[in-house]
Amino acid sequence: MVTEVKSKVFTPGKIAGLELRNRVIRSGCFEGMSQEGGVTEALIEHHRRLAEGGIGMTTVAYASVTFDGRGFGHEIWMRDEIVPDLRRLTEAIHNEGGAASIQLGHCGFFASRREIGKRPIGASRKFCLFRMSICKEMTHEEINEKIEDYARSALQAKEAGFDAVEIHSGHGYLMSQFLSPWTNHRKDEYGGSLENRLRFPAAIIRRTRETVGPDFPILVKMNQRDGFNGGLEIDDAIQVAKRFEAEGASALIPSCGFTARTPLYMMRGNVPNKDMARNQSNPFMRLGLLMFGRFMVESYPFEPMYLLEGARKIKDAVNIPVIYIGGVLSLRDMDTAMNEGFEFIEVGRATVRDPDFVKKLQSGEITESDCDHCNRCIAAMDAGGVHCVCDENLP
Ligand SMILES: Cc1cc2nc3c(=O)[nH]c(=O)nc-3n(C[C@H](O)[C@H](O)[C@H](O)COP(=O)(O)O)c2cc1C
Repeated sequence: MVTEVKSKVFTPGKIAGLELRNRVIRSGCFEGMSQEGGVTEALIEHHRRLAEGGIGMTTVAYASVTFDGRGFGHEIWMRDEIVPDLRRLTEAIHNEGGAASIQLGHCGFFASRREIGKRPIGASRKFCLFRMSICKEMTHEEINEKIEDYARSALQAKEAGFDAVEIHSGHGYLMSQFLSPWTNHRKDEYGGSLENRLRFPAAIIRRTRETVGPDFPILVKMNQRDGFNGGLEIDDAIQVAKRFEAEGASALIPSCGFTARTPLYMMRGNVPNKDMARNQSNPFMRLGLLMFGRFMVESYPFEPMYLLEGARKIKDAVNIPVIYIGGVLSLRDMDTAMNEGFEFIEVGRATVRDPDFVKKLQSGEITESDCDHCNRCIAAMDAGGVHCVCDENLP
């Protein structure tokens, strides 16, 4: 007879009016499975499988609110046309007893000029080393359009049967670029003081809340630190968190890092330069990564629960649920998060390693993941779809 492990982790919990069957949410881990900006059978199966593996809620990763917010060709971009396929995706997740969320973002200056066919936009003019492009500073008209784009995308997600949306205000994407002094040098009411840098991200949360109604869960992934001198720091992040709560966020996920500058800071562990170079279709980028990868991508040592200190500060500053993310590998880590007062936990790599991670913890089959944060799953996103490559014999 199988006896279930007793832990608060495996009890139901609520975000706004949404009840999840347990406290574990699959974090947005870009799947690399979209085609023509839409849903594929592989993407549906990926999330169905995670729900079958016992996750409380799974998050469809990085969906761009508009075509010009894409960093890669195999990213979803939100539009009415794909709502029926998104509905098939949410139904597949629901049929396995899981809830479904979708991450909504815009790459800003990190968008790929090659994919979007024009110069990317951003908070201020800025050179992006990874894209070798300089973005254009957004006009007030573009700012207002983008606010509406986030809200419209959230409504489309709701119509498609998603139980929640996760607005991406971290990792150096567009909202984060407005918050960060490193990317925001504007001289108008959207730049300078924190109040001004918050104006655009706060308006997005407010407009999204107005659009989806008072009860629909809006999660916000944000940075506790950008991860370099001159970026956003924790004291400002605490103010950002309070403002997001005031504008209608239902829960916060305090992550960190800036994809265009400290891409491994949010994950820690090994830098998979060789794998990333092998999967690069652009020969210049391939060569660049092979020759200069170790200078372009800084590495940071991994330790379990590496974001706890900052996450605690965010949690203590707000009254909405705060979801712990960063280096959760075991039931012990999850219990620590629960005991600290986090209502939920987002888990990335341990569920990439094994979609049955939650089920196996709950049944007592395992107590921890054997993911060794080699991070080669990052490269797999560009080679057929995210999965753990550790057991494969690669060339
Ligand atoms: C393969 C891979 C893809 C990722 N893609 C995204 C993404 O699309 N959006 C995002 O917010 N974070 C992304 N992340 C970061 C994770 O959501 C998470 O913040 C990070 O991995 C730390 O959690 P973990 O220690 O549980 O893996 C990705 C991580 C991995 C490993």
